[in-house]
Amino acid sequence: MALEHTFSIIKPDATERNLTGKINAIFEEAGLRIVAQKRVHLTKAQAGKFYEVHKERPFYDELCEFMSRSPVVVQVLEGENAIAKNREVMGATNPAEAADGTVRKLFAESIGENSVHGSDSAENAAIEIAYFFAGIEIVG
Ligand code: CMP
Repeated sequence: MALEHTFSIIKPDATERNLTGKINAIFEEAGLRIVAQKRVHLTKAQAGKFYEVHKERPFYDELCEFMSRSPVVVQVLEGENAIAKNREVMGATNPAEAADGTVRKLFAESIGENSVHGSDSAENAAIEIAYFFAGIEIVG
């Protein structure tokens, strides 16, 4: 097993409902350590750059509007197999398909307003972490 870092966002629908602590408790309970965290209010352009890979998708504009609607909490999570573990803890993108006990099953409102984002690969985790954090801000 490998000690990994993954990138996480607690999204506007969750920060608006004051769910940051409850979601962090689920991460920590699962053995993920929050080694960097900050609250930022993204501009639509910053959200668009982060989600550039989705720019041809029909929901891209709606996604960028949503992600810049309110503050988000961006995080680096550390743990054994942190990337896969975080995806398991988050649950499926669509909350209707998410397993019981997952963050999205518990809190997500829709496929778009789904409370959390997590990296889907080691390569993307490194890119996403570097978009928001300097190395000196990540403290294990
Ligand atoms: P996330 O894991 O952050 O990665 C891309 C995001 O796009 C996804 O979570 C959802 O918030 C959003 N998304 C994916 N599919 C749809 C959809 N069909 N309609 C609206 N938003 C979507």
